[in-house]
Amino acid sequence: METDLISIRDLRKDDIEEVLGLAAKYKSRSPASENIDVGEKVLGTLFFEPSTRTRLSFESAMLRLGGKTLGFGSVESSSIMKGERFSDTVRTFSHYCDLMVVRHPSEGSARLASELSAIPVINGGDGPNQHPTQALCDLFTIEMDKKRLDLKVALAGDLLYGRTVHSLAQALALFGSDILFISPSSLRFPSYLKEEIAQMGIRVEEDDDLKKAKDCDVLYMTRIQKERMSEKAYEKVKNCFVVRKEDFEDSDTLIMHPLPRVNEIEREMDDLPNARYFDQVRDSVPVRMALIDLILNGKLEVCEGETEKGKCPNQRCITNVESMDTKVEKGRCLYCEKPLD
Ligand code: CP
Repeated sequence: METDLISIRDLRKDDIEEVLGLAAKYKSRSPASENIDVGEKVLGTLFFEPSTRTRLSFESAMLRLGGKTLGFGSVESSSIMKGERFSDTVRTFSHYCDLMVVRHPSEGSARLASELSAIPVINGGDGPNQHPTQALCDLFTIEMDKKRLDLKVALAGDLLYGRTVHSLAQALALFGSDILFISPSSLRFPSYLKEEIAQMGIRVEEDDDLKKAKDCDVLYMTRIQKERMSEKAYEKVKNCFVVRKEDFEDSDTLIMHPLPRVNEIEREMDDLPNARYFDQVRDSVPVRMALIDLILNGKLEVCEGETEKGKCPNQRCITNVESMDTKVEKGRCLYCEKPLD
């Protein structure tokens, strides 16, 4: 059975536990799986946005499993520059590989890619919507340190456009973590997601003071997503939060960041024992090895629901870029995941 990983919503708690358990085996280099055999398989990376970590850690994971990788170096070197549509590029690319990681600025693009291709698709980031594999890497780093995931976690920075925090908050809620959202007022965590998480029985708080994170087990800092806002809007918020050594050097709070960072964590923080952002980079390889193993072996089952036809009002949604109807599932666009009302 073909399995895609498009949204953290696709996974149940026990699926996530399975990924983290297998990642721990890959990390300790014990024989991790009896079934893995990727020697002839090719992982394709179809990236329409820049990436260092996601793309290279997937490539590293596939190479370490004995497989092969391909991808165009940049959008500029591809036929997208001749005006080729996303959907045609995906259909073409899917014939060149056995598993595809897609990153694209439009929300819902990875879901559409999964429908257009006969091979498994992993979402490597669809605009400001989801980055589910980053959330799995983040959970792994937290669990390695804290040995549990029912914690108090502060998510800080650009909570509106930062896709990593959308996926991570949903994943943490599955494990019972309380969440403190810290952001400027213009970049608040989306209210529809906040309500969903609160309905799961999670204590959700909102603040604009970064020092409140000192009472949390984890401070997960994020970059302001300059590429998703106007220059004027960026100027107003670009230096809104900086994690400073003087505030966190005597603290047990883990300092995390999906990277890249710009100026939101002082370089002086890097050598502190609670700085974990380069551990996240290291841990991403065994987590992505586990995902490739499970997906290529058809061992990761994802939840699928009933849908009906509709029109998505979100102009950033891939259905509007590709001029198509959406599928509505429980009042939400199946592609960009936003509520339709
Ligand atoms: N964390 C992350 O997605 O980094 P890249 O943008 O470098 O892939």
